[in-house]
Amino acid sequence: MEAGDVPGERDAEGPGGTMAARGSERGATERGGAEPTGAMESVLLSVDGARICYRLRKQVVTAVESATFSMDRHERLMLIGPSGCGKSTLLKAVAGFIPLAGGRITFDGHEDLTPGPDRAVVFQEFDQLFPWRTVLENVAYPLRVVGRERSEARAIAERFLEMTGLTQAADRHPHELSGGMKQRVAIARALALEPAMLLMDEPFGSLDAITRARLQRELKAIADRTRVSILFVTHSILEAMTLGDRVVVLGSPPSRVLDIVDVRGLGGPGDPRYVETQAHLHELLGATDEDLSGVEG
Ligand SMILES: Nc1ncnc2c1ncn2[C@@H]1O[C@H](COP(=O)(O)OP(=O)(O)OP(=O)(O)O)[C@@H](O)[C@H]1O
Ligand SMILES: [Mg+2]
Repeated sequence: MEAGDVPGERDAEGPGGTMAARGSERGATERGGAEPTGAMESVLLSVDGARICYRLRKQVVTAVESATFSMDRHERLMLIGPSGCGKSTLLKAVAGFIPLAGGRITFDGHEDLTPGPDRAVVFQEFDQLFPWRTVLENVAYPLRVVGRERSEARAIAERFLEMTGLTQAADRHPHELSGGMKQRVAIARALALEPAMLLMDEPFGSLDAITRARLQRELKAIADRTRVSILFVTHSILEAMTLGDRVVVLGSPPSRVLDIVDVRGLGGPGDPRYVETQAHLHELLGATDEDLSGVEG
């Protein structure tokens, strides 16, 4: 499939179809063909003893004491931990929004973390879209910023709106969308940049449980298809287990990594390994049963 192609008809559903059921196979075929071979080449992100502080009036607040983990290309790595433990802070540091006070973060072989389209960010808030632009313009605008021609930006935006099931809403403005649709636009906008990594900070946190579960499934299918790497912050153990390959568990602030748990290949709640892993995460987080009730797999 060529770069400008729209997805094949066989992927398309009716207007109510899901974003997972649509989409381009370009990422899978192109990126799959250039699979790195060496172990070092497969590491996309390496966080080594990262220490991150904020200056708050005359005080220095340590948000992250020392975090160490790494992430492979094409991996979905989940960050979980109690409120205030520094999940968003770590994500922002990887995005290049805040500097390190110590340690090192290496992304794609370099330490220059100047914000760029290779790391696209999706936040929790529904108001991350430009309210005065249409859905199509919201997705096309960052492409113009990174130098795409108007017609090319439009074609790419249309392709990613198709992938996320938003074609029918292309001419609407954000205030005419549901919360779930706004999050789809934010995801489409991020994916359209074809980043090496998607950084997602509780992107489904404000959604109702049913919409959230649907978007989880759809995001997972898109990630499988495009092979985009995802660093995903969540509060939910079930979301981490549903979406993730591995889960980095952060402790109470100022935080450090308590454990990194592999959640690949687990069966459903009937699988003893699933139950064991869930209990382990539960224990690490000191969570209550309420944390386990929010999201369906
Ligand atoms: N701009 C800021 N200035 C000063 N302190 C901040 C700032 N942003 C965050 N912090 C502090 O850094 C710590 C980590 O915050 P962060 O937002 O990363 O936590 P979090 O794990 O994402 O929490 P939550 O789950 O509630 O979103 C907290 O103690 C917070 O108060
Ligand atoms: Mg946060």
